[in-house]
Amino acid sequence: MTTTTQVRTAVVAREVTKVYGEGDAAVHALRGIDVGFAAEEFTAIMGPSGSGKSTLMHCLAGLDTVTDGQVIIGDVEITGLNDKQLTLLRRERVGFIFQAFNLLPTLTAEQNIRLPLEIAGRQADQALFDRVIETVGLRDRLRHKPSELSGGQQQRVAVARALISKPQVIFADEPTGNLDSRSGAEVLAFLRRSVRELGQTIVMVTHDPVAASYADRVVFLRDGLLVSEVERPTPQTVLDTLMALEA
Ligand SMILES: Nc1ncnc2c1ncn2[C@@H]1O[C@H](COP(=O)(O)OP(=O)(O)O)[C@@H](O)[C@H]1O
Ligand SMILES: [Mg+2]
Repeated sequence: MTTTTQVRTAVVAREVTKVYGEGDAAVHALRGIDVGFAAEEFTAIMGPSGSGKSTLMHCLAGLDTVTDGQVIIGDVEITGLNDKQLTLLRRERVGFIFQAFNLLPTLTAEQNIRLPLEIAGRQADQALFDRVIETVGLRDRLRHKPSELSGGQQQRVAVARALISKPQVIFADEPTGNLDSRSGAEVLAFLRRSVRELGQTIVMVTHDPVAASYADRVVFLRDGLLVSEVERPTPQTVLDTLMALEA
């Protein structure tokens, strides 16, 4: 019997450039990025401050427009969509986790988790809801308001909220930036589990080698260019690559 292994690509950037401002004030934040992110994989984006990590993530997620080039999510070229189509695509296919947890303070954890689906007029798949709650370990916190939760628990609510709509990809920008190292490790472990057990695709921006070591692959930016990558990273291999970049 022959078996073929096919790696599906969830997100692709082709020759993406991004220029902020004009003339003398122009900042070339991305200078021609070609990169693909495999489905059901956890990829980290690293690089020195100002190297273009957030800009790349925003362009990949359709939160910002590119100056040139293409971004494709699944089978849709998002750089060809108008604002309304983009909003819909983000709502239906993309999940976000930010450094600030962005939870609504008056809603309970469960209401926060269900909100994006309700806005999209969709029902949560109850089996998936239960699995996500199990995965992120929030069963006994569902009726709590964000102010009654620790930072780590709030970020786990944000992770659950992103997972529950089964997006084609979750983008996370410094998701552990506001957490102490223990809570950060918890959140990263949940992201890792959601890739392994739920088949989620995650692209995470981080400047922390330990956070990046939870990923399957790390890609490195410098001055708006993709300059290196590491498979099956460890904190040490990530640190070595970063040091080489900054040398
Ligand atoms: N809205 C903006 N207007 C002008 N310049 C920007 C803007 N956002 C980012 N930049 C510039 O683009 C470059 C890349 O920024 P950013 O993507 O935030 O880097 P990183 O996330 O790696 O720290 C930096 O030089 C930054 O100053
Ligand atoms: Mg940034």
